[in-house]
Amino acid sequence: SFHRVPFVLANWKINKLQGEVKDFIEKVNDKVPAADVVETGIAAQDIFLADMIRETAQSPVQVVAENVHWEDSGAFTGETSPRALADIGVNYVLIGHFERRKFFNETDSTVNLKVTAALRNGLKPIIDIDEDMSAYAQFMDAEPAVAQVAAALAGVSVDQIRNITIAYEPTWAIGSGEAASAEQAQKAAHLIRQTLAHLYSPSISEKVRILYGGSVNPDNASEIMSQPDIDGVLVGKAALDPDQFLKLAQIA
Ligand code: G3P
Repeated sequence: SFHRVPFVLANWKINKLQGEVKDFIEKVNDKVPAADVVETGIAAQDIFLADMIRETAQSPVQVVAENVHWEDSGAFTGETSPRALADIGVNYVLIGHFERRKFFNETDSTVNLKVTAALRNGLKPIIDIDEDMSAYAQFMDAEPAVAQVAAALAGVSVDQIRNITIAYEPTWAIGSGEAASAEQAQKAAHLIRQTLAHLYSPSISEKVRILYGGSVNPDNASEIMSQPDIDGVLVGKAALDPDQFLKLAQIA
């Protein structure tokens, strides 16, 4: 069967200052695994991305944007264009993180516009699915999560889907210190893969990486990542520390 390279992605959100960014990168640069074994990435504030690209030029670490606008250029004060991200050498962009949906009114339809814009500019979207899976776990109500996946991918072609990563982050697990159990995370990831199989085909669904996020740390990561449908982790708090980040990459 198709081998999906594990992905360990830090999401720094709006933490860290310039000097801290530099120190972290210097520390992890030549210690992360080769990209064909485990892919590693760091999502950071836009203002740091260009420096980070330069500082990781000799390293497999991917520099990831946390957000992107849906138009390539124009009058959208304060936004960052997908074209400019691609131009400075960014490869991946997080789209539709729970905090974007919650505090900045992002909806399934803006998420879809951003996904399409990213792909059009050669960026690889990492799409956050935040539907609370407790309903699914308790009542087998899969509808909200399935609908969120389908909405995010509207208009994404069979050729483009290979450039998509899905990150499943249950709202209650983000920053709470209480991760989903490996079983819950697997169940949700499996539902997402089934949805991809339905939208595209079973063989295509096997090629898409699905990450779990929400209170991941070096103690719970190994059980979560050993689940058949989980291909990596999206890590907030624990990945602010370079040693923990490296530990997670080792575990993967
Ligand atoms: O995107 C990752 C984040 O939402 C999870 O944060 O701090 O629970 O690992 P944390």
